[in-house]
Amino acid sequence: MNLRMSGGARGLKGEVRVPGDKSISHRAILLAGMTSGTSRLRGVLHAGVTRALLGCLEQLGIETEALAADDLLILGRSWRTPGAVLECANSGATMRMLLGALSSAGVRATLDGGERLRQRPMSRVIDPLRQMGASITGQEGTDQPPLTLQAARLHGIDYEMPIASAQVKTAILLAGLSASGPTILHERARSRDHTERLMRRLGVPIRVMDGDIVLDPDGTSHAPFDLEIPGDLSSAAFLLAAGILVPNSQITLPMVGVNPTRTGLIDVLREMGADVRLPHLRQNGWEDVGTLVARSSGLRSTSVSGDRVVRMIDEFPIFAVLAAQAEGVSVVSDAAELRLKESDRIASLADELRRMGAAIEPRPDGFEIRGPTRLHGAAVDSHGDHRLAMALTVAGLIAEGTTTIQGAECIDESYPGFGRVLAGLGAEVA
Ligand code: S3P
Repeated sequence: MNLRMSGGARGLKGEVRVPGDKSISHRAILLAGMTSGTSRLRGVLHAGVTRALLGCLEQLGIETEALAADDLLILGRSWRTPGAVLECANSGATMRMLLGALSSAGVRATLDGGERLRQRPMSRVIDPLRQMGASITGQEGTDQPPLTLQAARLHGIDYEMPIASAQVKTAILLAGLSASGPTILHERARSRDHTERLMRRLGVPIRVMDGDIVLDPDGTSHAPFDLEIPGDLSSAAFLLAAGILVPNSQITLPMVGVNPTRTGLIDVLREMGADVRLPHLRQNGWEDVGTLVARSSGLRSTSVSGDRVVRMIDEFPIFAVLAAQAEGVSVVSDAAELRLKESDRIASLADELRRMGAAIEPRPDGFEIRGPTRLHGAAVDSHGDHRLAMALTVAGLIAEGTTTIQGAECIDESYPGFGRVLAGLGAEVA
């Protein structure tokens, strides 16, 4: 599917409820499936990645009932051995978190995914799970999918996280729920902490102190739960950018999750001089939720490195578009992880934004962009990466002429209807 947009957009105005948070939806669906009884998830992400996860859970014997597209009942029970391969599609979160949850579920299962997912690193999650006693084998002696798990009894570990990955952290914590003894993790850089917050909210004995996480369930299990999931800041980021970059715009995004481990882009935008406000911030002790308002503004360049990279790890495609419109040179470093996402985001961003006239130079661990440049419309490719496709869509709105994005169907993985939302705000997107 191609998405076409006319450049030179002006005056995007309106209020949008963005889809439910992908990270929290994954954790909530898994934790609901792992307990006995019926949980209700409101505001849950209804998109390709959660469909993949729910499809896997169905194979494992978990029934769900949709009261509305984003309002789901999940009937948790003990998992059964699936009759077919668990297909994780293009979702690293689905495969990695499911590996953790499955490790101690007492079933045999095989997990597989699309071509790109088969290439993405899995040792980072398999290594610690094996240290806990999990039995996982990959394709032809490697740790790459398809991955087969056998039933195993797990024990807790004391583990220093070698990379800042919330997916890995979550897999270990989900496995730790039914391991004997405590599971202790040490994080050098703090990755998103949705799992810790949700477990605490569910009454799971988990403590977090200065980068150390101690989970000690001691044979207890959490009860079914009701949850209201906030909107996804990583999806909101594209609309914030559109509001800032398209002249004469004002876009309001209510009920967005603004957990401080996720808000690196907001800090960076303010540093760049963007008019982004956060009225109605609600800190409810579980997840922080607020309304974001973005207005057209001029931008100056900035640099992103170190721990801040982790706090905006999914936002670099749209950051690159913003930096291409900022005055001066913006530099991203310490971000080699970007090469391991749904596409090699350093290479794919440089290739596609250059087609539109951006002055972007890839580096081994990031990129450098000189701005502002007048972008021109072009035929560009999504590389099968939803966040790259949405970033290019925003670039297309401010370019001169028409932009066509090939392979735009991948947007459905996290933001179905994204093009329609932009059209509703006044953009020409079809
Ligand atoms: C996620 C963590 C990040 C992020 C991904 C979702 C999560 O991945 O890029 O989109 O839900 O924990 P890593 O853990 O691989 O950094």
